[in-house]
Amino acid sequence: MTSVRDIIRAPHWSTDIPLDSPHLRLDVLAERGFVILTDQDPPVPDEEFRSLEYMDWKSGGDTHFAPVATADGELDCRGFWKPGDERPDKNGRFTSNAARCPTLVAHVEGVGANFGRVRVIQLEPQDYEQALRSIHRDDNNRFNPDGEGWVVRQWIELTDTPGAFMILMEQGPDGLPDPATEVHVPLYRGARFVVDTQRLWHVVCNPSATTRFALISSFESGPALDRWIRANLPAV
Ligand SMILES: [Fe+2]
Repeated sequence: MTSVRDIIRAPHWSTDIPLDSPHLRLDVLAERGFVILTDQDPPVPDEEFRSLEYMDWKSGGDTHFAPVATADGELDCRGFWKPGDERPDKNGRFTSNAARCPTLVAHVEGVGANFGRVRVIQLEPQDYEQALRSIHRDDNNRFNPDGEGWVVRQWIELTDTPGAFMILMEQGPDGLPDPATEVHVPLYRGARFVVDTQRLWHVVCNPSATTRFALISSFESGPALDRWIRANLPAV
């Protein structure tokens, strides 16, 4: 089987994204950097995400994004980092897409935490090796003031794509993904999870023939997000 080390070599832009910082982090993510939650039940109706306005924006493969919340409410995937108007990935404002997806909006607001960018990703199928070429870490906390909550990301899987999974790896001491730490999160309609995508290298493998859709929301770590995660952990 292909190893990430056959594909990702130094220098890589993700290596330079900070891992350590004085931001507030959640204990529930400390051990593994991700947590799987109970499923979304009932699942989000298809028309909510299929009717949105999508934009051509490449991240982690052949992707399109439908912005649901952005820095200023405009349909713009750059949003928070416009030159001259840089903002942390928080205090998101709903876009014109929001009126078409009330269940998604209710979910985001129901978490009760400060949210930043919220968007539906549309990702074309890619096999394991193709996916590894796009593995990366996110720069979620750029412009986030020291001492405030560390921004992490939450997923709701909106479609069934048989055999699909998210690949997660810790960063090794050399600044590249460490294959000894590789974990696969199964993706199916209704799956929900939170990932510290600035800490973990990540990408999705979708070997099915089906285009995948998922809601990705940025949330600020703090008591509200902690409460919501703990309220949605599966029974042991
Ligand atoms: Fe990412």
